[in-house]
Amino acid sequence: MGVGASPSTSALAAMLSLGTKVVLGAVGVASVLSPVLGVEASTSVVVATSGVTTASAAQPSASSSVFIPDAASRVNVFVGTTNGATIPHGMVKAGMDTDSPGNHAGYDADPQYHVTGFSQLHDDGTGGSIPLSNFKLFPFATCGKGNTFEECQTTMSGRKVLRKEPLTMQENPDTSHPIYRRVFAYTFPAGTTSPRIVVDITNDGQKSSTDSHMDLDEKTGRVTGGAQFAGSFGPGRYYAYTCVDFKGEGYDTGAPTEYGAWSGTYPVKNTVSSQQVFFGFVPEMGALLTFSPNSNGATSILARVGVSLISADQACANAEKEIPDFDFEKTRAASRAQWSELLGRIQVNPQDVDPEFVDLFYSSLYRTHLSPADYTGENPLWNSSEPYYDSFYCNWDTYRTLFPLMALHDPTTFARIVRGMINIQQHEGWLPECRGASVKQWIQGGSHGDPILAEFFVKYHDHANALSVPADALYNALLADAERQPPNWNLQGRQTNIWKSLGYIPQDVFERGGGNTRQVSRTVEYAFDDFTISQVAKVLGKTADGKKYAQRSQNFQNVWNENVTFPGQTDIVGFMQPRFANGQFNYTDPRHCSIHDPTSSTCFLNAQRHDGFYEGSPITYSQYVPHDTAKLIELQGGNDQFIKRLDFIFDQGYFDSTDEPSQQIPFMYHYANRPGLSTQRSRQTIAQFFNTSTNGLPGNDDSGAMGSYAAFYLAGLYPLPATRQILLSSPYFPEISFQNPILNTTTTIRSTNFNGNPANGTGGQVFVESVKIDGKPWQSNCFIEWDAFTNGSLIELQLTDNVNVTCGSGQNALPPSLSTGGYD
Ligand SMILES: *[C@@H]1O[C@H](CO)[C@@H](O)[C@H](O)[C@H]1NC(C)=O
Ligand SMILES: *[C@@H]1O[C@H](CO)[C@@H](O)[C@H](O)[C@H]1NC(C)=O
Ligand SMILES: *[C@@H]1O[C@H](CO)[C@@H](O)[C@H](O)[C@H]1NC(C)=O
Ligand SMILES: *[C@@H]1O[C@H](CO)[C@@H](O)[C@H](O)[C@H]1NC(C)=O
Ligand SMILES: *[C@@H]1O[C@H](CO)[C@@H](O)[C@H](O)[C@H]1NC(C)=O
Ligand SMILES: *[C@@H]1O[C@H](CO)[C@@H](O)[C@H](O)[C@H]1NC(C)=O
Ligand SMILES: *[C@@H]1O[C@H](CO)[C@@H](O)[C@H](O)[C@H]1NC(C)=O
Ligand SMILES: *[C@@H]1O[C@H](CO)[C@@H](O)[C@H](O)[C@H]1NC(C)=O
Repeated sequence: MGVGASPSTSALAAMLSLGTKVVLGAVGVASVLSPVLGVEASTSVVVATSGVTTASAAQPSASSSVFIPDAASRVNVFVGTTNGATIPHGMVKAGMDTDSPGNHAGYDADPQYHVTGFSQLHDDGTGGSIPLSNFKLFPFATCGKGNTFEECQTTMSGRKVLRKEPLTMQENPDTSHPIYRRVFAYTFPAGTTSPRIVVDITNDGQKSSTDSHMDLDEKTGRVTGGAQFAGSFGPGRYYAYTCVDFKGEGYDTGAPTEYGAWSGTYPVKNTVSSQQVFFGFVPEMGALLTFSPNSNGATSILARVGVSLISADQACANAEKEIPDFDFEKTRAASRAQWSELLGRIQVNPQDVDPEFVDLFYSSLYRTHLSPADYTGENPLWNSSEPYYDSFYCNWDTYRTLFPLMALHDPTTFARIVRGMINIQQHEGWLPECRGASVKQWIQGGSHGDPILAEFFVKYHDHANALSVPADALYNALLADAERQPPNWNLQGRQTNIWKSLGYIPQDVFERGGGNTRQVSRTVEYAFDDFTISQVAKVLGKTADGKKYAQRSQNFQNVWNENVTFPGQTDIVGFMQPRFANGQFNYTDPRHCSIHDPTSSTCFLNAQRHDGFYEGSPITYSQYVPHDTAKLIELQGGNDQFIKRLDFIFDQGYFDSTDEPSQQIPFMYHYANRPGLSTQRSRQTIAQFFNTSTNGLPGNDDSGAMGSYAAFYLAGLYPLPATRQILLSSPYFPEISFQNPILNTTTTIRSTNFNGNPANGTGGQVFVESVKIDGKPWQSNCFIEWDAFTNGSLIELQLTDNVNVTCGSGQNALPPSLSTGGYD
């Protein structure tokens, strides 16, 4: 990863050209204090139709057809929320911040919210308190009536401005494509006499800084500084540092003509350190610089921003190393090339497909490559030559679909992330679960580093050595989660002692180290985590361990109460329920925490509550046993009852597209031999909840969880982590192919009689009637094997408009479940 050959520092510096993209325009009357920003960099344009043109000329014959030569051109980063310009998995995600309440990416497309600055670090659509958003830069074309240094409104509330226009089309969509916002830019209006720039050291998204400091070099204008900031979703704090350099674009600005530190609303000329101006009780501080304007009247100033979690010196070194020559174009081109190569590994044939779906696909895929972020060289906690990844926010969100998608096309990054996770386990005792800027954050459910490592190992164990992933250390890391209870299981690991003795998490046992909540959802998630460990044990030939963890993965049955019925619907029988240590159940209404909960509970993370469930209801968690759906069908009374229950969940609105535990429900009809219904429900889910508008996501993106989910649905696939099977439906494209740089294969799924996609997701010639792999009839219409990816197969689908298709008639037509023979 990274510009050039350096994987470690490429993510650490952002190049900001204060020249071309953010247009500052002083409005009419002199009494207006602030200029108005017309923020070109913030538009939601998807352009570059060249891909489509090429595509329609291409014939879908070779399995390695390139249909979208520049896949990055199909990305709209403003889908849902947004995150900032970056390279794949880059640490620096430069982006615009607004004063919108509750916008976790810093940015809000709604033009009623003010711009407060352009900051360097962001996450991708997380919950918790607004994370990161550190080190904002902000330009002033004029300051006050007298346009003096001292009149500049340096605080966030003083300087904030409305965007000049709602976000609209760009004059030059290519160079302003949001992917480049890491090199986004500003333009001072012609005739600006005192172009000024604020560097804000203290205001992160939570305004949480303490222990801040800033120094500036009056000769060069270099600003260095840092502070301690609060983590977003946990009790820890972290230090971050920055180093900002300026340069005229196409001319020499020389030394700043005015400079000074500011504290609150007081910029003090000719000071060079926060210590000269800083009052302890004023929480906002930074630098203000004035540059000489360009003699031709159009001022362009480039800013290069380095960031580090170690020191300001290292922030400078990162910037100098990554962007030595301030070359805006080169930086932009290198970042763009990286994105196009990465996204282009998945090719779709757009013929007869609504371009909206192509854009939605690549925009979703793009968001799966933001988190976790490569902080290699920036780990403040210990030194190691292993990669260091951070921004796991949280594995609970991403293990289901993000990492399985990465397994299909980006195993090299996947391997580096796995190495980083193992390294964290070796230093901290347990795998990371939820983490931001080195801070351990709250655990939502199980220890879901386990399915992530297992997903990698089950698919890539033959390549583990070549990818420098140590199998023994990987297995030891899994065992630590499974067997060792940490002192604080709210921040890492699991509540393993009681899990091992009772086989479920009881509702009435209070143990030090974590909240006595989420007992049922943790039970079903611990069970799945143990399943994934059993899968790794099997690969390693550890037969006894494989059996042991497969056995433990059946523990979900310990919280199944066969006698609980749905209120008013007595034929829906059997639910996951909280249970006491003595074995008795504590009845909980199956609607608890659903949209129809009579008590309007929410089941979010909250120490005050004692709900057995997390971000889901008994009715949705009673569907969550991905590794043994056959057993679930049996518990729920057989195929017909199971289908009836699934239909009830959708028809009554219990399916919750915003929360991950619901994600696989649309595909569950597969296991009852009704894959057409899965195709239907999954397509209705896309139609209802996903599009390329700024609100085109249900809830947050959750670090790419939603992006990867949508990408799988559009690809006509759904993964089961840590297995070699992938559920199959029909792609939205006549052909989709996955190029894998480690397996050196391209795997293609082609619908031989593709006939478009119904816009509302209902009906259409989209149901899989039969499947051939490499020319031979395949055993199932419901799943494919990982072999198809290692072999580089051509998978041909015959589609029909008959929703009543089945998985096939053979013995091995249904997708596997543990209790019907497992995953061998
Ligand atoms: C890492 O190594 C550097 C250089 O030897 C040292 O200054 C620093 O304290 C070390 N960091 C940690 C966290 O041990
Ligand atoms: C369900 O009811 C049956 C019959 O009354 C009883 O034998 C069984 O123990 C009950 N199961 C649970 C979990 O309460
Ligand atoms: C039993 O469940 C209810 C919610 O249905 C909860 O309020 C109560 O605290 C639980 N009882 C115990 C002892 O945990
Ligand atoms: C996009 O999806 C959201 C829900 O996620 C929905 O509210 C909105 O109406 C959709 N917009 C369009 C243009 O379909
Ligand atoms: C894939 O190709 C690369 C470069 O050609 C080669 O080094 C590598 O060994 C190949 N891997 C496999 C699994 O064939
Ligand atoms: C979906 O669209 C098709 C035709 O485009 C129409 O026949 C059908 O009634 C629609 N279904 C729903 C649920 O809106
Ligand atoms: C993959 O190739 C192997 C060996 O050629 C073959 O036995 C297997 O059936 C293939 N699998 C698929 C899914 O095509
Ligand atoms: C699918 O099956 C249902 C009931 O079994 C039937 O009513 C319907 O007509 C069938 N649809 C088609 C297209 O055959």
